[in-house]
Amino acid sequence: MEQYAIKGGNPLVGEVEIGGAKNAALPILAAAIMTDETVVIENVPDVKDTNALIQAMESIGAIVERIDRHTVKINASQIHGHVIEDDFIKKIRASYYLIGALLGKYKKAEVVLPGGCNIGSRPIDQHIKGWKALGTQVDIAHGLISAEAAELKGSHIYMDVVSVGATINVMMAAVMAEGQTIIENAAKEPHVVDLANFLNSMGANIKGAGTDVIRIKGVTSLHKTEYTIIPDQIEAGTFMFAAAVTKGDITVKNVIPKHLESITAKLIEIGCEVEESDDAVRVVASKPLNHTHVKTLPYPGFPTDMQPQMAVALGLSQGTSIVTESIFENRFRYVDELTRMGANIKVEGNTAIINGVGRYTGASLSAPDLRAGAALVLAGLAAEGFTMIDEIQYIQRGYEDFELKLKGLGAQIEKVETEREIQKFKFKVS
Ligand code: EPZ
Repeated sequence: MEQYAIKGGNPLVGEVEIGGAKNAALPILAAAIMTDETVVIENVPDVKDTNALIQAMESIGAIVERIDRHTVKINASQIHGHVIEDDFIKKIRASYYLIGALLGKYKKAEVVLPGGCNIGSRPIDQHIKGWKALGTQVDIAHGLISAEAAELKGSHIYMDVVSVGATINVMMAAVMAEGQTIIENAAKEPHVVDLANFLNSMGANIKGAGTDVIRIKGVTSLHKTEYTIIPDQIEAGTFMFAAAVTKGDITVKNVIPKHLESITAKLIEIGCEVEESDDAVRVVASKPLNHTHVKTLPYPGFPTDMQPQMAVALGLSQGTSIVTESIFENRFRYVDELTRMGANIKVEGNTAIINGVGRYTGASLSAPDLRAGAALVLAGLAAEGFTMIDEIQYIQRGYEDFELKLKGLGAQIEKVETEREIQKFKFKVS
């Protein structure tokens, strides 16, 4: 079983390149099957989730050619089925984007119910409500969700909650529906905008993505395109916090600073210096960190996907901080692990009360999910002594070459599999 072995205590210093956004790549890859013409997508992150989705697309006949590590060419003219039930696809949340894409193009889809990180109950009622409003019959049976429409007709849909997944899924289904669809209370995340831009580059007519009202005029077909995915806001934010917790100086390159504003604001509040340029941000943490309060919210609020990394920093900040998680109810599962490193955190409902401590100490930990796993790596890098982290397959779902990028900044971290490799690492760094 692969684990990360970490020797903490080094300030991370240097430059790191951010890859394409996982949560934009997933719907964009799925939407590529909505045309019979060939689509080229650049800046696709090479992570477990995108690879699982590509495998699922291939299982129904999409031809996917990798031009290089981050560029794929997709031709879906030979799609021969609309049923996706392979076991591997169950594990990823984004499997449900294939429902929106298949429904939009073929008016028919049958996909295993989505899994994904265990961060709370993850209903899909708003996706179903949107599809039904467009004229779809939706049924859930034997672990499969099936959606079928004689024809899709534009509709006016008011989302009861702001949902990234539902906004994206309804947008894909509506692109080739007859007439106009309006999605109110839509999610405004950069990846929602990126998908809309991608679909528009294929000939769709989507306006208002990035605001809370999206208007879609149905078109009869979509065509080929070449498209580059936006940089990953959460990967960037994770490295920004790596600078904060290790008292480092990191320039995070290839980012859109606008997408990072809520993260930047919190880093400044806790005492870091942040310099922005056109496509990079530099985070310098030269002073002791201060406490603050933070509440996760849909974009442009502070992202739930950055909550554990923020908590790791607040755990080392002077004073008492309060973190409120308002999106997913089960996103504090890393707190027990951090406590083993000496953190002083009490969770009450959706709130964590954090009393800053002077240091963390290395321990054996388990990554509970993707972002919490990355946050524990940051804690290990800040801690005194050795930290071992298992279940790192969660981290690999969303971070490409995480340990290599950290090493490039001076981190002492290694992916290890055997006791011998662990001993070798300890010998090397001690
Ligand atoms: C996306 O999940 C991301 N996943 C998550 O990132 C991210 O944490 C989340 O958006 C919030 O930003 C992908 O993009 C693949 P939601 P999603 O629908 O779409 C409720 C990561 O680490 N809701 O915006 O599943 C829901 O329970 C992952 O990369 C309903 O009630 O999230 C939650 O409270 C983890 N009914 C809120 O809305 C619905 O039908 C927001 O969820 C749908 C959602």
